[in-house]
Amino acid sequence: MDFELKTLTRARVCTEKCDALVVLISQEALAQGAGDDPVSQLAALAVKSGDFEAKPGKLLAGYRTVGIAATRLVLAGVGDGSPKNVRTAVTAAMNGLKNGNIRRVVLSLAALNEPSVEVVRAAVVACGDAGYAYTLTKSKAATAALERVVLAVTDGSRAQAGFDKGVGLAKGIALAREWGNRPANHATPILLAGAAKELGKLPKVKADVLGPKEVAKLGMGSFMAVAQGSVEPLRFIVLRYDGAAKAAAPVVLVGKGITFDTGGISIKPAGEMDEMKFDMCGAASVLGTFRALAELKPAINVIGLIPACENMPDGHAIKPGDVVTSMSGQTIEILNTDAEGRLVLCDALTYAERFKPQAVIDIATLTGACVVALGGVRSGMFSSDDALAKALSDAGESSLDLCWRLPLDEDYAEGLKTNFADVANVAGRAGGAITAAKFLQRFTAKFPWAHLDIAGTAWKSGAAKGATGRPVALLVDYLLGQATPIAKTKAKQAGKAATGARPVRKPASKPRAA
Ligand code: BES
Ligand code: MN
Ligand code: ZN
Repeated sequence: MDFELKTLTRARVCTEKCDALVVLISQEALAQGAGDDPVSQLAALAVKSGDFEAKPGKLLAGYRTVGIAATRLVLAGVGDGSPKNVRTAVTAAMNGLKNGNIRRVVLSLAALNEPSVEVVRAAVVACGDAGYAYTLTKSKAATAALERVVLAVTDGSRAQAGFDKGVGLAKGIALAREWGNRPANHATPILLAGAAKELGKLPKVKADVLGPKEVAKLGMGSFMAVAQGSVEPLRFIVLRYDGAAKAAAPVVLVGKGITFDTGGISIKPAGEMDEMKFDMCGAASVLGTFRALAELKPAINVIGLIPACENMPDGHAIKPGDVVTSMSGQTIEILNTDAEGRLVLCDALTYAERFKPQAVIDIATLTGACVVALGGVRSGMFSSDDALAKALSDAGESSLDLCWRLPLDEDYAEGLKTNFADVANVAGRAGGAITAAKFLQRFTAKFPWAHLDIAGTAWKSGAAKGATGRPVALLVDYLLGQATPIAKTKAKQAGKAATGARPVRKPASKPRAA
């Protein structure tokens, strides 16, 4: 889908030819009652007669309306015009248009009072989300896809930054949704690695892919243990985005890439097991984030690590009670082969040490317990570093991709003790999201670390089954916040030329006590 930003007055919007014109209307705009253009008049009339209000999500639709060049007209209430309400309104309006023969839509923000970066971005991202359709494994396309959305605003230069952010983000989210949605036989570790290689062709992005031999050489005994029950060979994907000086310490993103989770020998019940194709949504969010980075080009270095494999039961599969040696040297007793995510992540976390990162964030559909705790509204967030935790919380709020911090008290690690190894891969049922995070924490002593458990937020079940693309928006907002502003980078480079000093990023937060 293409986006275009256009400067149009409220009156000009009415003469814009397109398949559908969606006009966002705030309470404020209605109260002011200003505007003698056809849309404003219509809106005022509809409110007077009780047929429309500016509540978020309220719609009023018309067809071949007098004075409007667009074939269809949709008024969409946005309440106070907050980013969240704008998202609700755009989603409702665009979904309502889905089944018509609609290719070109004009979305007018012209009635909103100086929309902020967040408002413009929310509108674009919501359009992208509504315009996305999964088609890969369908023999014929369902309906004509939305081709173009023109965002109409009264001041194009003011809206440009939010628009650009939104377009970059929409591309990243769409990529994450697409890979999340693909069935396991169309999204094997090899195919995921192929997607990473494709990203490697974008500006400032490079992709390296390691196979079983290289991974064995690295000593990733825990990751290999999970992969050994499947005929699909594992892949370890290393992405880099070089947006800043070489010496600048990178942020490392680690995405769980279990392309299908049967549970292994500790096999899962059959009901809804198909949804375990989504067990690589952490990996997909890393791919999506890199897609957005390539678009937005912030001045920051980012590494993406994806341990990708299937978790299957077969003659080679790991058995409950098996003890393996992780790359860190710590031995792990695998008491439950269904707690495989932490087993692949721990070796990737150890691998992350070599980048001397300013922060490491892992993203994983890790525990059913996190779904019980937080549902589908907020992702679980854990961090050993208060500044990193705050930055992630803030990024979640500003991008409308929410998370909630959960505790990491040492007492929660009690249940991971075992007589047969340094650590067990499961504790009891209680506090399952936290004990999983405590397991991961053992492999993060060398850097500030955060863990996002997206088991409840990465996809939706039921009639709307499908990947959400979360938490790409959160991650991108966090990374943009860590980037050196361009002006500063230039000043630093000038300073470097004069003094010969290397520009070194200051760490995002102080290193935590060991
Ligand atoms: N991929 C699952 C977590 C999951 C389950 C996400 C359901 C979303 C919905 C993970 O690998 C897993 O199986 N976790 C186990 C851990 C348990 C064995 C300690 C779980 O949550 O049941
Ligand atoms: Mn599992
Ligand atoms: Zn899993």
